[in-house]
Amino acid sequence: MRKMNNIILIGYMGSGKTSVGKLLAKTCKYQFCDTDEIIEKNEGERISEIFEAKGESHFRMLETQTLEQLQGKMKRCVLSTGGGMPCSEVNAGLLKSIGTVFYLKVSKDIVLGRLQGDTTRPLLQNGDLEEKVEQMLKLRDPLYERAADVIIQTDTMSVKEIVNEVMKQVEQINGTGISTKRKEQKRK
Ligand code: S3P
Repeated sequence: MRKMNNIILIGYMGSGKTSVGKLLAKTCKYQFCDTDEIIEKNEGERISEIFEAKGESHFRMLETQTLEQLQGKMKRCVLSTGGGMPCSEVNAGLLKSIGTVFYLKVSKDIVLGRLQGDTTRPLLQNGDLEEKVEQMLKLRDPLYERAADVIIQTDTMSVKEIVNEVMKQVEQINGTGISTKRKEQKRK
Protein backbone atom coordinates (compact mmCIF):
# COMPACT_ATOMS: atom_id res chain seq x y z
CA MET A 1 0.00 0.00 0.00
CA ARG A 2 1.21 3.49 -0.76
CA LYS A 3 2.16 6.09 1.84
CA MET A 4 3.88 3.70 4.24
CA ASN A 5 0.72 1.55 4.48
CA ASN A 6 -0.99 3.95 6.85
CA ILE A 7 -4.75 4.21 7.16
CA ILE A 8 -6.18 7.50 8.43
CA LEU A 9 -9.69 7.90 9.80
CA ILE A 10 -11.39 11.29 9.74
CA GLY A 11 -14.91 12.37 10.58
CA TYR A 12 -17.12 14.22 13.00
CA MET A 13 -17.12 13.64 16.76
CA GLY A 14 -18.94 10.39 17.50
CA SER A 15 -18.45 9.00 13.99
CA GLY A 16 -16.71 5.92 15.38
CA LYS A 17 -13.10 6.73 14.44
CA THR A 18 -11.70 5.30 17.67
CA SER A 19 -13.78 2.09 17.81
CA VAL A 20 -13.29 1.43 14.11
CA GLY A 21 -9.61 2.33 14.30
CA LYS A 22 -8.92 -0.01 17.21
CA LEU A 23 -10.66 -3.00 15.62
CA LEU A 24 -9.12 -2.25 12.22
CA ALA A 25 -5.62 -2.09 13.72
CA LYS A 26 -6.18 -5.34 15.60
CA THR A 27 -7.52 -7.09 12.49
CA CYS A 28 -4.70 -5.89 10.23
CA LYS A 29 -2.02 -6.19 12.92
CA TYR A 30 -1.31 -2.51 12.50
CA GLN A 31 -0.38 -0.11 15.27
CA PHE A 32 -3.21 2.15 16.50
CA CYS A 33 -2.54 5.85 17.09
CA ASP A 34 -4.89 8.68 17.99
CA THR A 35 -3.93 12.33 17.51
CA ASP A 36 -5.93 13.48 20.56
CA GLU A 37 -4.13 10.91 22.71
CA ILE A 38 -0.74 12.00 21.36
CA ILE A 39 -1.55 15.64 22.14
CA GLU A 40 -2.78 14.82 25.65
CA LYS A 41 0.36 12.80 26.33
CA ASN A 42 2.71 15.49 24.98
CA GLU A 43 0.97 18.29 26.85
CA GLY A 44 0.22 16.33 30.04
CA GLU A 45 -3.33 17.72 29.92
CA ARG A 46 -6.76 16.59 28.79
CA ILE A 47 -8.11 18.09 25.55
CA SER A 48 -10.78 19.94 27.55
CA GLU A 49 -8.09 21.47 29.79
CA ILE A 50 -6.07 22.61 26.76
CA PHE A 51 -9.17 24.29 25.29
CA GLU A 52 -9.96 25.94 28.60
CA ALA A 53 -6.47 27.17 29.44
CA LYS A 54 -5.09 28.05 26.00
CA GLY A 55 -8.07 28.19 23.65
CA GLU A 56 -9.08 26.40 20.48
CA SER A 57 -6.50 28.08 18.22
CA HIS A 58 -3.68 26.75 20.42
CA PHE A 59 -5.18 23.26 20.20
CA ARG A 60 -5.37 23.57 16.39
CA MET A 61 -1.71 24.53 16.32
CA LEU A 62 -0.89 21.42 18.38
CA GLU A 63 -2.87 19.30 15.90
CA THR A 64 -0.81 20.57 12.96
CA GLN A 65 2.42 20.11 14.95
CA THR A 66 1.43 16.53 15.72
CA LEU A 67 0.90 15.70 12.04
CA GLU A 68 4.22 17.32 11.13
CA GLN A 69 5.92 15.15 13.73
CA LEU A 70 4.21 11.98 12.50
CA GLN A 71 4.95 12.65 8.82
CA GLY A 72 7.44 10.12 7.46
CA LYS A 73 7.69 8.27 10.78
CA MET A 74 4.58 6.10 10.74
CA LYS A 75 4.39 2.70 9.09
CA ARG A 76 1.54 0.19 9.17
CA CYS A 77 -0.45 2.42 11.44
CA VAL A 78 -4.15 3.20 11.77
CA LEU A 79 -4.38 6.87 12.75
CA SER A 80 -7.58 8.14 14.31
CA THR A 81 -7.87 11.94 14.23
CA GLY A 82 -9.76 14.60 16.18
CA GLY A 83 -12.95 15.74 14.46
CA GLY A 84 -11.56 19.15 13.52
CA MET A 85 -8.21 17.89 12.24
CA PRO A 86 -8.94 17.79 8.47
CA CYS A 87 -10.75 21.13 8.42
CA SER A 88 -7.65 23.17 7.69
CA GLU A 89 -6.12 22.86 4.25
CA VAL A 90 -2.64 22.44 5.73
CA ASN A 91 -3.77 19.51 7.88
CA ALA A 92 -5.71 17.96 5.00
CA GLY A 93 -2.51 18.04 2.91
CA LEU A 94 -0.44 16.55 5.72
CA LEU A 95 -2.97 13.76 6.27
CA LYS A 96 -2.91 12.81 2.59
CA SER A 97 0.88 12.72 2.65
CA ILE A 98 0.83 10.32 5.62
CA GLY A 99 -1.72 7.76 4.46
CA THR A 100 -4.94 6.86 2.73
CA VAL A 101 -7.69 8.98 4.23
CA PHE A 102 -11.09 7.44 5.02
CA TYR A 103 -13.99 9.71 5.93
CA LEU A 104 -16.45 7.96 8.23
CA LYS A 105 -19.53 9.92 7.29
CA VAL A 106 -22.34 9.99 9.81
CA SER A 107 -25.70 11.77 9.99
CA LYS A 108 -26.82 14.24 12.63
CA ASP A 109 -29.27 11.88 14.33
CA ILE A 110 -26.71 9.14 14.84
CA VAL A 111 -24.24 11.67 16.27
CA LEU A 112 -26.88 13.05 18.63
CA GLY A 113 -27.71 9.59 19.91
CA ARG A 114 -24.04 8.95 20.65
CA LEU A 115 -23.04 12.30 22.11
CA GLN A 116 -25.99 13.12 24.35
CA GLY A 117 -24.60 13.82 27.81
CA ASP A 118 -20.97 13.81 26.67
CA THR A 119 -18.77 16.06 28.79
CA THR A 120 -15.40 15.46 27.14
CA ARG A 121 -15.86 17.51 23.96
CA PRO A 122 -15.39 21.23 24.67
CA LEU A 123 -17.02 22.34 21.41
CA LEU A 124 -20.29 20.66 22.32
CA GLN A 125 -20.74 21.99 25.85
CA ASN A 126 -23.29 24.73 26.59
CA GLY A 127 -26.11 25.56 24.26
CA ASP A 128 -28.38 23.46 22.10
CA LEU A 129 -26.60 20.25 21.08
CA GLU A 130 -28.77 19.54 18.05
CA GLU A 131 -28.31 23.04 16.65
CA LYS A 132 -24.55 22.89 17.18
CA VAL A 133 -24.14 19.48 15.57
CA GLU A 134 -26.33 20.46 12.62
CA GLN A 135 -24.39 23.67 11.96
CA MET A 136 -20.98 22.06 12.37
CA LEU A 137 -21.83 19.09 10.15
CA LYS A 138 -23.07 21.43 7.43
CA LEU A 139 -19.83 23.40 7.57
CA ARG A 140 -17.52 20.45 7.93
CA ASP A 141 -18.97 17.82 5.63
CA PRO A 142 -17.54 19.43 2.45
CA LEU A 143 -14.18 19.82 4.20
CA TYR A 144 -14.14 16.16 5.23
CA GLU A 145 -15.07 15.18 1.68
CA ARG A 146 -12.28 17.33 0.29
CA ALA A 147 -9.74 15.77 2.64
CA ALA A 148 -10.80 12.17 1.96
CA ASP A 149 -9.54 9.57 -0.47
CA VAL A 150 -12.53 7.34 0.35
CA ILE A 151 -15.92 8.25 1.83
CA ILE A 152 -17.92 5.63 3.74
CA GLN A 153 -21.52 6.40 4.70
CA THR A 154 -21.58 4.57 8.03
CA ASP A 155 -25.08 5.23 9.42
CA THR A 156 -26.44 1.71 9.05
CA MET A 157 -23.17 -0.14 9.53
CA SER A 158 -21.71 -1.90 12.57
CA VAL A 159 -18.09 -1.28 13.60
CA LYS A 160 -17.14 -4.66 12.11
CA GLU A 161 -18.85 -3.86 8.83
CA ILE A 162 -17.02 -0.54 8.59
CA VAL A 163 -13.71 -2.30 9.27
CA ASN A 164 -14.45 -4.80 6.50
CA GLU A 165 -15.39 -2.00 4.12
CA VAL A 166 -12.15 -0.11 4.83
CA MET A 167 -10.15 -3.29 4.19
CA LYS A 168 -12.06 -3.93 0.96
CA GLN A 169 -11.38 -0.39 -0.23
CA VAL A 170 -7.67 -0.67 0.62
CA GLU A 171 -7.58 -3.83 -1.45
CA GLN A 172 -9.24 -2.08 -4.38
CA ILE A 173 -6.87 0.88 -4.18
CA ASN A 174 -3.77 -1.31 -4.06
CA GLY A 175 -4.92 -4.24 -6.07
CA THR A 176 -3.85 -6.38 -3.12
CA GLY A 177 -5.08 -7.10 0.42
CA ILE A 178 -3.47 -5.97 3.65
CA SER A 179 -0.77 -8.38 4.70
CA THR A 180 -1.25 -9.31 8.33
CA LYS A 181 2.13 -11.02 8.43
CA ARG A 182 4.76 -8.61 9.63
CA LYS A 183 7.67 -10.72 8.31
CA GLU A 184 6.20 -10.79 4.82
CA GLN A 185 5.88 -7.01 4.94
CA LYS A 186 9.50 -6.55 6.04
CA ARG A 187 10.88 -8.65 3.20
CA LYS A 188 9.37 -6.32 0.56
C1 S3P B 1 -12.90 18.08 18.05
C2 S3P B 1 -13.03 16.72 18.18
C3 S3P B 1 -12.45 15.97 19.30
C4 S3P B 1 -11.23 16.72 19.86
C5 S3P B 1 -11.58 18.11 20.20
C6 S3P B 1 -12.10 18.90 18.99
C7 S3P B 1 -13.56 18.76 16.90
O1 S3P B 1 -12.04 14.66 18.87
O2 S3P B 1 -10.18 16.69 18.94
O3 S3P B 1 -12.55 18.09 21.21
O4 S3P B 1 -13.22 19.92 16.61
O5 S3P B 1 -14.41 18.12 16.25
P1 S3P B 1 -13.10 13.47 18.53
O6 S3P B 1 -13.54 13.67 17.12
O7 S3P B 1 -12.28 12.23 18.69
O8 S3P B 1 -14.20 13.57 19.49
